[in-house]
Amino acid sequence: MGPLVGAIDEGTSSARFALFKAGTAEIVVSHQQELAKIYPREGWVEQDPVEILNVVRKCIERAIDKLVAQGGNVNDIAAVGITNQRESTVLWDKTTGKPLYNSIVWQDVRTSSTVEQLLGNKNYLKPLCGLPLSPYFSALKIKWLYDHIPHIKKAIDSDVCLFGNIDAWIIWNLTGGPHGGIHATDVTNASRTMLMNIDTLKWDPVLLQFFEIKSSILPQIKSSSEVYGIVSEGSLTGVKLAGCLGDQQSALVGQQCLNKGQAKATYGTGCFLLYNTGTTKVHSSHGLLTTVAYQFGSDNPPVYALEGSVAVAGAAINWLRDNLGILPNFIDAQQVAEKAESVKTGEVYFVPAFSGLYAPYWQQEARGVIVGITEDTDTSHIVRATLEAVCYQTRDILEAMSSDYGAPLSTLQVDGGMTANPLLMQLQADLAGVNVLRPEMAECTALGAAMAAGAAVGCWDVKGPPLKLPCIKYSPKMTEDERDVKYAKWKLAIESSIGWDV
Ligand code: G3P
Repeated sequence: MGPLVGAIDEGTSSARFALFKAGTAEIVVSHQQELAKIYPREGWVEQDPVEILNVVRKCIERAIDKLVAQGGNVNDIAAVGITNQRESTVLWDKTTGKPLYNSIVWQDVRTSSTVEQLLGNKNYLKPLCGLPLSPYFSALKIKWLYDHIPHIKKAIDSDVCLFGNIDAWIIWNLTGGPHGGIHATDVTNASRTMLMNIDTLKWDPVLLQFFEIKSSILPQIKSSSEVYGIVSEGSLTGVKLAGCLGDQQSALVGQQCLNKGQAKATYGTGCFLLYNTGTTKVHSSHGLLTTVAYQFGSDNPPVYALEGSVAVAGAAINWLRDNLGILPNFIDAQQVAEKAESVKTGEVYFVPAFSGLYAPYWQQEARGVIVGITEDTDTSHIVRATLEAVCYQTRDILEAMSSDYGAPLSTLQVDGGMTANPLLMQLQADLAGVNVLRPEMAECTALGAAMAAGAAVGCWDVKGPPLKLPCIKYSPKMTEDERDVKYAKWKLAIESSIGWDV
């Protein structure tokens, strides 16, 4: 079968483990399992770090069972990489290995009021870390835990506490846990904490002092592609753990956007557009983040990206299903929304700013609005407006990117669960006026981590010609005038959303 490379893909909604034939986008086996979320209060979102770990372990074991059932051999696995939901924050006791609190998930907005208290100008720290002050990133989550949970304060003060995003939590556990686990993260994950200096790629003393965070809790920052350690448990025992990337950066790599000027959008719980700016850091004047895209080996320079993050994409569909009960499941979103085509009064706009708006607005006080309702409006219009909201938010980011970078994108590469909906893809092409290319191979995020791990152990050439991923293409069919009129109305809806909290 030849060498295989594994990828642990730990997202917000589910985890999976996939084995790729080295140097190809061919998945030999994979296993996926959903993950639960905990909502202790309005705006608070948590997950159980032990459940995350156990689900990851189960995905690995089930996938390897499938490999063995196919006649494959675990000894063919040359390396394994990790890709993960970013920013979500875990603190644990290094002596017992036990988490000191649930993971505070990236979507959690419990620190909103702290943002106002700490800084008048949200962009004050951006020159250092590339990010505006927001509850989204890890720093405020760590600060909240220190300030509000007495046993965490004690653990940090007495140096028994370790911090990690989900990558570091998994790496530490899989490489030995309290009996010698490697406490490390990669530059892409570290670039989402607000604690790493975007130039030096090291934890920044000024940022640590600003957030009052002790450096002793922080993992070592490594490149995205190097041997981190050896897996010490389960069927992967002895395999090199050799790649690590935040999931959005990993999708950029998996989509083969390895050249300056290439961009991808991943439609999952949220929607994240990353634009490869090469070895140049571009500081956005339009609300985008400057982030590390990847660094293949510590001797190579980092590659940077501009990122536009949208907090709510697939999550809005889940809201229709779970909170309003107007949608049995995601697949039905297409059929229901298609019905709205035939109704002339379908000009409903929905801004799903459930807990504020991310890029390019960064308005944490904004709230969701549905406007344009008439007596003819029915659920099909609301469902369609939800799909359109994903597309308009993507257009907002594309506009910001072309303003920052000087040239509009003509093609957008897409991936993620929602891209299985052809109506959404056509709407995206129409409403943003771009060609949309969707690879038939859906697991671009896992592919990126496998590429990084394979490159580190010499069985994947990431410097050669990119992999050719067969794609489905959606081209704009709407006239430019129609697109612009609709977009102008979207902007009015955004104003209502931002103006809601008066
Ligand atoms: O920044 C958050 C992002 O990494 C989460 O991605 O795919 O788990 O929704 P996903």
